[in-house]
Amino acid sequence: GGASGGGNAGSNYPDQNITIVVPFSAGGPTDTVTRMIADPMAKKLGGKVVVQNVEGAGGTVGAGEVARAEPDGYTVLMHHIGMSTAPALYADLGYKPLEDFEMVGLVTEVPMTIVAKKDFQPATLQDLVTYVKANASKVTLANAGIGAASHLCGLLFQTATGTKLQEVPYEGTGPALTDLVGGQVDFMCDQTTNTSGQIAAGKVKAYAVTTPERVKSLPDLPTTAEAGLPNLQVSVWHGLYVPKGTPADVVQKLTEALKVALADQAVVDQMAKLGTAPVSAEDATPEAHRAKLEEQLATWAKVIGDAGVKAS
Ligand code: MLT
Repeated sequence: GGASGGGNAGSNYPDQNITIVVPFSAGGPTDTVTRMIADPMAKKLGGKVVVQNVEGAGGTVGAGEVARAEPDGYTVLMHHIGMSTAPALYADLGYKPLEDFEMVGLVTEVPMTIVAKKDFQPATLQDLVTYVKANASKVTLANAGIGAASHLCGLLFQTATGTKLQEVPYEGTGPALTDLVGGQVDFMCDQTTNTSGQIAAGKVKAYAVTTPERVKSLPDLPTTAEAGLPNLQVSVWHGLYVPKGTPADVVQKLTEALKVALADQAVVDQMAKLGTAPVSAEDATPEAHRAKLEEQLATWAKVIGDAGVKAS
């Protein structure tokens, strides 16, 4: 559904509900992070914040809707690393990340885990590498569409192992994880904010984390480097955006509310339980967010270009 708009931007902002658009399915990692900060942000802003899931095409449908929304501060986008990979993957993306949005600030950088259905034969990451090399065309790899973080991590995995697997796209890794637990798909690369619960419950097999260091809340999981895939390193950074042209004082109120939310002890504790942490106060700023996006656009354009992957 279209993102809402209208209302009075400026000094008495907010004087109506603020919508944060999540461009993936409810119950997935992006949705989880957004719902953690929505209430503390609403308290600071003195208004109501509602979360709206606008799925499709690896997050690019939701991002496009916000790019075209009223620049009045009542439509906000929560997005992640996918904002920096989409331009290299989609020939006619319909929005330009650096020009069609104002940045509000970075939120959190989430580790990824490589997880498989419980009864998948490979026991370790090394076994998985051997297995996919011998069975590539038969192995199914879930993701949340071209441009999703899970898609990028899957791309890095296939590049690192020299394999081309059967990718199975979902509208978010929430539903993808449900199928993985049900044994409908073989494996997936997904964020700790989504997989931690199922790993702890023993409902999926976990091979490794994609961070340079082990994740404190998943101490038994080796890093990809320890497990023999040093090139498979990726963390899913998240940021908040509003449409280009949103008044500066409105952006500032949103940035302040974001900082308060990221300092909220309940948010810090919940993020720690799910393997991640809020960014620093300096990174929860438009300047740091824009710098990160510029650097990431350049980084992934090269990696994706070299891999020769295109969505359209
Ligand atoms: C989600 O929230 O579903 C994920 O962020 C999807 C992805 O990017 O892999």
